[in-house]
Amino acid sequence: MNTRALIETAQALVAGGKGLLAMDESNGTCNRRFASAGIAQTAAMRRTWRELLLTAPALGESISGVILYDETLRQHKADGTPFVQVAGDAGLLIGIKVDTGAKDLAAHPGEKVTEGLDGLRERLQAYCTLGACFAKWRGVIAVDEARLPTSSCIEINAHALARYAALCQEAGLVPIIEPEVLMDGQHTQARCQQVTEAVLRSVFEQLTRQGVVLEAMLLKPNMVLAGLDCPAQHTAAEVAQATLQCLRRVVPAAVPGITFLSGGQSAELASSRLNAMHVAGTTCNGQALPWQLSFSFGRALQHPALAIWAGDEANRGAAQQALVHRARCNAAALRGAYSAALEAQVR
Ligand code: 13P
Repeated sequence: MNTRALIETAQALVAGGKGLLAMDESNGTCNRRFASAGIAQTAAMRRTWRELLLTAPALGESISGVILYDETLRQHKADGTPFVQVAGDAGLLIGIKVDTGAKDLAAHPGEKVTEGLDGLRERLQAYCTLGACFAKWRGVIAVDEARLPTSSCIEINAHALARYAALCQEAGLVPIIEPEVLMDGQHTQARCQQVTEAVLRSVFEQLTRQGVVLEAMLLKPNMVLAGLDCPAQHTAAEVAQATLQCLRRVVPAAVPGITFLSGGQSAELASSRLNAMHVAGTTCNGQALPWQLSFSFGRALQHPALAIWAGDEANRGAAQQALVHRARCNAAALRGAYSAALEAQVR
């Protein structure tokens, strides 16, 4: 393992006030999103959409890397240029989703375990050869006010995340470790904080036990939010406070960066909460954050653009502008400089 190179890649992904674009939806998820936007669910349309995203002008000013899905990593632009080359030419580091999805966890109704460890060593080697330098694995944790998550669901997913991470580092890929506490449900923000803290403690215990180099990974957590159906919702400042308190308690300072998922928040809310964390981060208890705090959004970057595109080539330019606008808003949030005025400013 070339630890120095891994550390440099991990640091580069969160350097320069940039974040990540997650465009790694599996074919099933991508098709579901296409269906709700009235777009044909074909490999050709998925390829066209991914080309639109990767060729958005000046995306690299706000985005350091892109997370791709297996299908996309192997695809080409309409003119035959490999996507890997398109991303490289745009200054974007290439990541790859390597889990094979969350499946029902036996004997645990309502809970999931993420699969994909079988044959992973060989797949990681193939992804390196294709040009990837980092990877992603998502574990999902359902939450309610009382029963969920079970401790076994937390431990099983944390164990799998650590096995994946160790294999990635062995192969020369920086692992992004994504334990997502879901927003679905009526649970309070306090419950989300309690569960997120327990999940992250378990994840870091497993990472340490399994020999993962903390300096050569990134954490991709959820923000600490009340459930979508909880009547008590919170301001951006309150979300920032709870999220930072949770992260400060459990994420070792050796980790170079934290890149939030958006998890189904609206694009604007995700930006404003990220922004509040950077305002709070410099003043909260007077303590500086030990890690870079950035974004690795999927829906909160792509959805406005997808709605504009709607599968129509005539809308390509406007959709790309919407994507770049969201990337800029989130990069501004990393400086605490996101505002309503900036939000309203579409080139
Ligand atoms: P969202 O930002 O839409 O949650 O997607 C991030 C991601 O990578 C999901 O695995």
